[in-house]
Order: sequence, then structure tokens, then C-alpha cells
Amino acid sequence: MIQAYRAALLHFHSDPDVDGENAYTFLEDGLLVIENGLVKALGDASTLLAASPDLPVIDYSGHLIIPGLIDTHIHFPQVEVIASHGEQLLDWLNNYTFPTERKFADPGYAAEMATFFLDELFRNGTTTALVFGTVHAASVEAFFTASHGKNARMICGKVMMDRNAPDFLCDTAESSYQDSKALIEKWHHTGRQLYAVTPRFAITSTPEQLAKAGQLCEEYPDVYLQTHISENKDEVAFVQSLFPESKDYLDVYDQFGLLGPRSVFAHGVHLTPREHARFRETGSSVSFCPTSNLFLGSGLLDIAKLEQEKVTYSVATDVGGGTSFSMLHTLNEAYKVCQLNGHALCPLKSLYLATLGNAKSLQLEDKIGSFNLGNEADFAVLDFNCTPLMRLKQSKSTTLKEKLFSMIILGDDRAIKATYVAGDCVHDRDGDAKNTKNK
Ligand code: GUN
Ligand code: FE
Repeated sequence: MIQAYRAALLHFHSDPDVDGENAYTFLEDGLLVIENGLVKALGDASTLLAASPDLPVIDYSGHLIIPGLIDTHIHFPQVEVIASHGEQLLDWLNNYTFPTERKFADPGYAAEMATFFLDELFRNGTTTALVFGTVHAASVEAFFTASHGKNARMICGKVMMDRNAPDFLCDTAESSYQDSKALIEKWHHTGRQLYAVTPRFAITSTPEQLAKAGQLCEEYPDVYLQTHISENKDEVAFVQSLFPESKDYLDVYDQFGLLGPRSVFAHGVHLTPREHARFRETGSSVSFCPTSNLFLGSGLLDIAKLEQEKVTYSVATDVGGGTSFSMLHTLNEAYKVCQLNGHALCPLKSLYLATLGNAKSLQLEDKIGSFNLGNEADFAVLDFNCTPLMRLKQSKSTTLKEKLFSMIILGDDRAIKATYVAGDCVHDRDGDAKNTKNK
């Protein structure tokens, strides 16, 4: 099965410099050729079509095709927690989040929300995410069933949580180990699904449970580890009181063998120089969640500092502490956080982060994040004329940088005309993907 898509094309194939330059390919009139769900060819449309005039073409001329967006930290059971008023992290968890996560004890509810969640990701052009479930193994089962059904590359894990949370949401060190192990055996590398060992954060796990998380990472060396770190100052103080022997917050995780290149730590707003050094030494990464950090009043993560310290980082929504599924909207807020930290994030760099950069932080750059030949064909079709204001801005923009910047500042789900996963259309905003065929 072969299918070509005609549009402007943009992807990064290596790391850009600070101005976002020297690392991308942009084709004004490009052709992306997909065979059996993989990228087969990429090039100038008229050249490729002259050589292969019989290629079936779906024509998205006037739009921009980019690799599917990647979200490195999001909670699928927190869809309905978005926009919960008035609290910072610890009260927000107790008053809004935990009562909502309780509902996922019901597998029917979990299945319904998993479908809603995936559709929402696709409507926003996101094709891969690193996802928290709840403490219930059934929530992760529901998520992987839905995601595998769409053939999407997703990473998910069951929350491990055995203290400082309501009884109805607590497992035990042993049951969390057994449940996680069963999910790994069933789902890790089933189709495109991957597993992440998921202790919620240091506050809600006993040392025994963190040791079990470490044991899982040792027994299954290519699973991921996802958790939260240093998001909120009260949280950091609470962790210090629970683990008085630890050098700092990261050291708690370090003692249990949870650091490494597949370990993703959400937030990291209040990290110390020693923690930065340990991130760098172990190849662990920070997930930057600007809408969440602003919404929960957590603080302004300084990504320029992380770059200086050579700490790997990615960008994420953190729904439902985060306020939008849209990675475009998330990059908009990231820009503003950077402004408050005294520097202007380049739009090309932003797009790099949400595609190849995030793929690299997940060690998946040989599969997703760019249109390198043989990669999995996940992509989004961006519409630069989707609102009157965006149409006006586009007509006044001349450079690629200017156009992308207004897409990032003004764009959201309305700008996603279509989303494709492994070459299949999973979101078709106007319902005309079929009509555009072979035009
Ligand atoms: N820290 C521990 N759990 C959570 C969560 O669900 N969301 C956020 N933003 N931070 C957390
Ligand atoms: Fe989170």
C-alpha cells in the first residue's frame, strides 16, 4: 500500500543551533511518500511525480505537513480535572485529582475516557505521548487497548502509590510490582505500545515501593520510568521531611536506581546545581510543562539554564494540571515563560522540541519525530488560514520563521487540518481527506 501527500513539508533531521537553523529541511512544494505505514520518500513534488507519475496523491497544497507532535508528560485520567479552580499542587491533588482518578476503578469508564483522550490528542496533532494512568491496572489496560487499536506509538504506565493518598487509591509495594510486571509482559512492545514504570512521586511511595520500581527497571532494562520532581516548593519540603537522609529530591529516586536515559522527570522547576549535574551524568531528562507550571503557580522553569548545564529536556502539556492538549498552545506558553526568564525562544527551535527533540528525549528518534526514510509515518497537516486573524497574519508574514511563530502564538486545535498515524488518517477536521485524494 503506497500513498503520497503533497504540501509544504518541514522536518528536523538534527539538532538546531540557538536560532533554530542548520538542522531542518523545508520544501515549499513537497511530496511525502508513505508505504506500509513508513516513510518511503521525501522530496520536491514535481521531481518525484515526474519520476513516478502513477503515485496516488492526496493533495494538501497550501498547508504544511510536519511530523506528528510528541507530548512527554500527560495524565489520561485527568481530562475532566482541567480548569479546576483555586489550588496549588498538593491541595489540587487532594481536592480535585484524587477523587477524579477514583472513577477509573470502573473499566467501562476508563475505556470511555481512553477513547476521548486519544481523539483529543489526534485533534491536536499529537501522535505520541508518555502517559500516566491511575493506580488501577485496568486504566492502563483500557488505554493500551484503545491506543493499540489505533496503531499509535504510545507509552503508558500504572501509577504506583502506597502512602499519603486516600485508601481507595493506594496499592502496596508488592501489588504495584505484580500489576506493573503483568502489564509490561502483556503490552511492552505489543505493536507500537511501550511501558513506563510510574511511581507517582516521592511523597506517595514508601521506600519499599520505590525499591520495587527500581527492580522493575532492572528486570526490564528497556522500559521507561516516569515520575514528578521539584514542581512545587511545599512538595520539595515534604519530600525532604519524608527522606531526611537524602541529599535532595533527585537523590531519593537515585538511591533506588530510577535514573537513566529512559527516565523522564516532569517539572523540575526548583532543581539544585547538584541535581542538574546528576541529570547530566545519568542522561535523565526533565519534562517542561509550561501551562501546568503557570496554572498551578509552580514556577518558571529556566530551560536556558538546563541547556547551559547540559541537562536534556522535552516539552509537555501535563493535562490536567496543564490547561490544553495543544502542543502549539503549550509552545506559546513556553515562549512566554522564556520571556520572563530573559530570553526569546526561537519558533524553529520550538517546533524542533515538539518533534525531533521530544523523540530524542524518549530515545525514539530512529522511529518518530522526523521524516527520515524508514521512520514511522506519523504526521500532522497544519492550516495557516484557519481563523481570520491567522489568515491576516500569514498574509503579512514573509519568512518561514515568522509564519511558524504566528502558528505557535495563535494556533491550537483549529489549525490541525488532519492527523495521520502510521499512514492512517485518525483526524480529518473537514471530513475531506478522501475528497482531496488523487486531485
Ligand atoms: N505530582 C504528583 N502527581 C501529580 C499530578 O497528577 N499532576 C501534577 N502536575 N503533579 C503531580
Ligand atoms: Fe503531571
